[in-house]
Amino acid sequence: MAKMTILVVGGGGREHALVWKINQSPLVEKIYCAPGNPGIGELAECVNVKQNDIDGLLNFARKKSIDLTVVGPEDSLVAGIVDEFESQGLKIFGPSQKAAEIEGSKAFSKYILDKYKIPTADCIVFDRFDDAKSYLKEIEYPAVVKADGLAAGKGTFICETEAQALTAISKVMIKKIFGDSGNKVLIEKFMKGEEASILGFTDGKNIAYLPSAQDHKAIFDNDEGPNTGGMGAYAPAPVITEKMFARICKEVFEPAVKAMALEGRPYRGVLYAGLMITAEGPKVVEFNCRFGDPEAQAILPLIDSDLVEMMLRIATGKNINAHIQLSDKWSMCVVIASGGYPADYEKGKEIFGLEKKFGADVEIFQAGTKNTESGKVVSNGGRVLGVTAVGADFHSVREKAYWAVRKITFDKAYYRRDIGMKALRHLKP
Ligand code: GLY
Repeated sequence: MAKMTILVVGGGGREHALVWKINQSPLVEKIYCAPGNPGIGELAECVNVKQNDIDGLLNFARKKSIDLTVVGPEDSLVAGIVDEFESQGLKIFGPSQKAAEIEGSKAFSKYILDKYKIPTADCIVFDRFDDAKSYLKEIEYPAVVKADGLAAGKGTFICETEAQALTAISKVMIKKIFGDSGNKVLIEKFMKGEEASILGFTDGKNIAYLPSAQDHKAIFDNDEGPNTGGMGAYAPAPVITEKMFARICKEVFEPAVKAMALEGRPYRGVLYAGLMITAEGPKVVEFNCRFGDPEAQAILPLIDSDLVEMMLRIATGKNINAHIQLSDKWSMCVVIASGGYPADYEKGKEIFGLEKKFGADVEIFQAGTKNTESGKVVSNGGRVLGVTAVGADFHSVREKAYWAVRKITFDKAYYRRDIGMKALRHLKP
């Protein structure tokens, strides 16, 4: 078989990790990434087309005879990039628009969870502010308010009081801080437990699971402060015991994949379940229609199989045989962000230390970065870098990741100091 030309859509840390892993495939000749970033540019040719410019991406894929397009971000998937490419006979990895709605609308996702009796928090969906406001008087606190649509990981509010919940629904439905994503809100019962992410490749029927992971969504140590896109992740997550994993397969993934097929929205791609591990068992916090960020930066280094072969099978409607070769190592990714993120932050800060030799068990995945005309790499976003270490023992992986993080500096750089602490607590003899 002739070697393939791949187009990766996106330009964050997740896409850098995808390009890094795809680059290891013997099936691949050349990788393009749209729009990419300077780190990705060391492995792929970056193309100046935005991730949500579907016509631009289509034209590029046709012009360059792309053999397979791999989509990183949810907004392109929810906007229907897969349907557009497939209608023009182009191979693309990711769920269709109808299937991606599992992330694009939390109200739709709750409908699936409730209808197919997949465990989740009790929840009511509102499309009128006044109704939501009245309901806030009837419920117990803490409670959870969520914007229905996409909000870059920032659309969930844990509210300790009715006043906080009122502020949250006002921001979402009246101030429209997430635009039309706030046309509906979900008001949900708070779930107690520890969160974990499980991802699986699926061909619409069979599922090949990836190592469990744990994200750290809050900006500050001890899970305090507002939510971000994710400040660090490790894999596997010891909170997911073998028994818990078996329950997640049976109670969450298998019924969810079956449900999507029965609803006429067969799900082909990578399905991500954000879970709360409660005293009663696993409960779904959310579904995502793509790899997590920064989970991908922790999980992809633990996949020994050829990612491209798996993605190609799914993109061409073949059975994935539901198995995947996984490494028995540990990994951890620490995100370095711009000071001030997830609120306002400065850009354009020169990043020092990227050229250092970190060794084969450390990868620096770039996210919000760009090149200046003079060839410097500067910060260009909230989450700037993801530093991943891999190894046989979690304690040394964690030390190695923080050792590498301390070697990279830029003005007002910020990172959490407690990534991986929960894993350490589980692993304590
Ligand atoms: N890390 C959370 C997400 O990717 O949605």
